[in-house]
Amino acid sequence: MISKSLKETKEIARKFVKKVTPHTDGAFVIALSGDLGSGKTTFARALAETFDIHEREVTSPTFVIIKSYDLDSKEFFFKKFIHVDAYRLEKAEEIEKLGWKTLIRDFGNLILIEWPENIGEALPKNAVKISFMFIDENTREIVFN
Ligand SMILES: Nc1ncnc2c1ncn2[C@@H]1O[C@H](COP(=O)(O)OP(=O)(O)O)[C@@H](O)[C@H]1O
Ligand SMILES: [Mg+2]
Repeated sequence: MISKSLKETKEIARKFVKKVTPHTDGAFVIALSGDLGSGKTTFARALAETFDIHEREVTSPTFVIIKSYDLDSKEFFFKKFIHVDAYRLEKAEEIEKLGWKTLIRDFGNLILIEWPENIGEALPKNAVKISFMFIDENTREIVFN
């Protein structure tokens, strides 16, 4: 998809979240790939907003690697929204030290991870992959697979 503005990216995120069907055997993991400034955090923030989380607070958790938000509402299937920024990590063991295996086992967790390539084989096989590409100042290409 092509997004021509911040607003369009947020709209794409909102439409995407409506199609998410939880897994029965573990967390729903969304891997967000793309260069710095390509729109990963913007997309994560828009998803958070659909769960009434206002992450000015979902700033890119560059210093905090894992941010977890409780979803108290009965309106949502998921119990926790978890935003991970693996920018500073280099290998699977580093995220495993942070309790990753427990997080991905719980089907009540919706997990978004920026820089998923930095955690290697720790990324679950069934993660939904979304790639962001910078086209020009206000345009981004967003590819889902
Ligand atoms: N169409 C667009 N979609 C998303 N972000 C856009 C778009 N056009 C411009 N931007 C800008 O690009 C930047 C994306 O930053 P961010 O989401 O933090 O990227 P990342 O997390 O990939 O490093 C923001 O400053 C945002 O305002
Ligand atoms: Mg980011």
